Amino acid sequence: MQITVAETKQRKSKPDDSNLGFGTIFTDHMFNMDYAPEKGWHNPRIEPYSPIIMDPATMVLHYGQGVFEGLKAYKTASGNIQLFRPEDNIKRLNRSARRLCIPEVDEAFLLDALKQLIGVEKDWVPGAPETSLYIRPTIIATDPFLGVRASHTYRLFIILSPVGAYYPEGFNPVKIWVTKDYVRAVRGGVGEAKTLGNYAASLLAGDEAHKEGYTQVLWLDGVEKKYLEEVGSMNIFFVIDGELITPSLNGSILPGITRNSVIQLAKLWDMKISERLISIDELVQAHAGGKLDEIFGSGTAAVISPVGEIKSGDQIFTVGGGEVGPMAKKFYSAITDIQYGRAEDPMGWVEPVA
Ligand code: COI
Repeated sequence: MQITVAETKQRKSKPDDSNLGFGTIFTDHMFNMDYAPEKGWHNPRIEPYSPIIMDPATMVLHYGQGVFEGLKAYKTASGNIQLFRPEDNIKRLNRSARRLCIPEVDEAFLLDALKQLIGVEKDWVPGAPETSLYIRPTIIATDPFLGVRASHTYRLFIILSPVGAYYPEGFNPVKIWVTKDYVRAVRGGVGEAKTLGNYAASLLAGDEAHKEGYTQVLWLDGVEKKYLEEVGSMNIFFVIDGELITPSLNGSILPGITRNSVIQLAKLWDMKISERLISIDELVQAHAGGKLDEIFGSGTAAVISPVGEIKSGDQIFTVGGGEVGPMAKKFYSAITDIQYGRAEDPMGWVEPVA
């Protein structure tokens, strides 16, 4: 399939790289492609960034049949642009799509489309330290229909946003809040898919966390409300008595690509790393026994994000004296050094953009 390119006549002015925040600025162009049963995925095109006009009955607006991804393009010191593990994001997009009855896309074609779009928008990749171009591929159901069934037609679009740190705290420790009142996902549900509704379902608990002065919610499993799962915008790692632990993927946790990168690096470095069940009680006990060395989150947007304080019920505990711990620093440096081309890429994770 040939991708048509229609460039805008009016390019926007570029923002100040040193003060980008997250997800508020969008580039000049986007990628669009449509699906119809008789044509498959068709009409791939790069065109000026513009609103999507929809019938009010469009299915995604009513039943949330949609999936998305998040990945980033990085500028190296020599001005080259590179992606980090983009094939893994595209594979996960297809896994999420399958779970939501959305037709899969050709993975090699989508990677090529993504690279072409970034090629057109290369001047938008910011150069200030720790900034990047966030890439948001999304697929939505587009039939105008109110019955509950899978849509027959879809739109896939990719938008780009120059970003800095996801959390206002930057690389400083965030505070997270454990809730037993709400759950994010249950096994057999859609927790491991990157679908729109998972994020909507997290908002009320997120609001309560904010009211309590916490940045994010640390979710427990949806059945026993006992085992730690993830933070919604990131996966979670604990360092207890020298062991690096992350909850095993059980069907209700998003299989994060940064999570997998941390695990692979830990193995490369011969660290003690366990993917296993970890309960809130184990965490509380580890803290009481002085063995909870560190907690940090991992995600594309969040990168590696140290956690300085946890609140669970009436208990509040400070982790690592509220400071950034050595493991968080080590993984943050190793991963960002690979992403920005400052270090060797022993795993072959980096993919240049033409
Ligand atoms: C990401 O890390 O890319 C995410 O999608 C998390 C969040 C921004 C929704």
